[in-house]
Amino acid sequence: MTHKDTSKEMLAILQKASGNYVSGEYLSQCLGITRAAIWKRMAVLKKEGFVIEASTRKGYRLCEQTRPYGRLSVQQGLVTRSFGRELKFLETVDSTNNYLKQMAYEGAPEGTVVLADEQTAGRGRLGRSFLSSPGKGIWMSLLLRPELHPSQVHSLTLAASVAVARVLEPLNIPGCGIKWPNDILIGGKKVCGILTEMSAEMDRVAWVIIGIGLNVNHTAQDFPEDLKELATSLYLSRGIDEFLERSSLAANMINQLEEIYLNYLEKGSSWVVEQWKKYNLTLGKRVRLISTAGEMVGCAEDLLPDGRLILVDDSRQRHEVLSGEISLREL
Ligand code: BTN
Repeated sequence: MTHKDTSKEMLAILQKASGNYVSGEYLSQCLGITRAAIWKRMAVLKKEGFVIEASTRKGYRLCEQTRPYGRLSVQQGLVTRSFGRELKFLETVDSTNNYLKQMAYEGAPEGTVVLADEQTAGRGRLGRSFLSSPGKGIWMSLLLRPELHPSQVHSLTLAASVAVARVLEPLNIPGCGIKWPNDILIGGKKVCGILTEMSAEMDRVAWVIIGIGLNVNHTAQDFPEDLKELATSLYLSRGIDEFLERSSLAANMINQLEEIYLNYLEKGSSWVVEQWKKYNLTLGKRVRLISTAGEMVGCAEDLLPDGRLILVDDSRQRHEVLSGEISLREL
C-alpha cells in the first residue's frame, strides 16, 4: 500500500468518527502501519489544510467537517475508473494546461488531472487570457489519449461542456446552459470556459487536453470592471449567501467527464450532440459568428451529428461551421 493511499484511508476513518477522537492504536491496526507512519500521514493531511487535534491519551480528531480544497478531498468524491486517479493539485501555476502538456510529453496516462487553486497566466480561447484568482474557482485540465482522427476532437469539447452542465444542473440556476460550442452561460454571462488543445499526426491524435475554468465563489468585486458585464460565478447567480464547496464540484466534474467520455467512445458524437441539446442556449436564435473566415450573422438552426453548427444567413445560405465564437448579444 502506498503512502498516498493510507493518507486517504486515514482521512476516511477520521471523518467517519464525526469529530470524535480515534486512538492511534485503532488507526495503526486498521491501516496496518506503525505509530510513526501514522504521524507522518497526519502531517500530509495537515499540509492539505485539514485541522487535526492530537492528544497523547485520546488519539486524533478531525476538527472541522468542512473540506479544504486539495487533492485528497477531491479524490474522496471520485467514483471513476481512471479519471482523476492520477491527480496533481497545485497551489499556484501559470496554467494547468501548460503543466499537463509537459506531463503528457513525459507519458502521463489518460485520465490524469491537474488542478490549481490559482493560475497566474490562465489561457482562454483565441489567445485570450483567463482570470483565475486564488480561492475562487476550479481551474482544471484533463488528459485524454483517444484513438480518434484529429477532425473528431471537436466533439470532445462539446462533451466536456455537457459534463459541466450536468454538474451544475442540481443547483437549479435559472438561465444556465451552453452557448455553442462549449461556453456555459448564466443569464447571458459566462460562468465556465473550456480550452481544448491537442497534439496530433495527420490522421492520429497523440493526446488531447481539456482545460476547464469554472467561476465558483467570485463576488462582484472579484471581477475587474471590463468583465463585470460579461462574466459571473455560481455564488453570484445562485442568490444564496453561501460559498460553494469546490472539492465536491471538482470531483463531480471529473466523474461526469469520465461517464460522458466513455459513452462518447461507445455511442459516437451524435449521442454527445443529443445530450448537448438539452442545455442548448444557441439553437433557434439569431447569432453573430466570428471565425477565422470573418463575421456572419444568421440563424443558428441546428447541430450536425458531429457537432458542427448549421447557420443560415440572411440570404438563406446554409453554412456548416466547425469552429468560431458566437455572440448572442445585441441581436
Ligand atoms: C475560454 O473560455 O476562452 C476558455 C477558458 C479556459 C480556461 C481553463 S482554466 C484551466 C485551463 N488552463 C488554462 O490555462 N486554461 C484552461
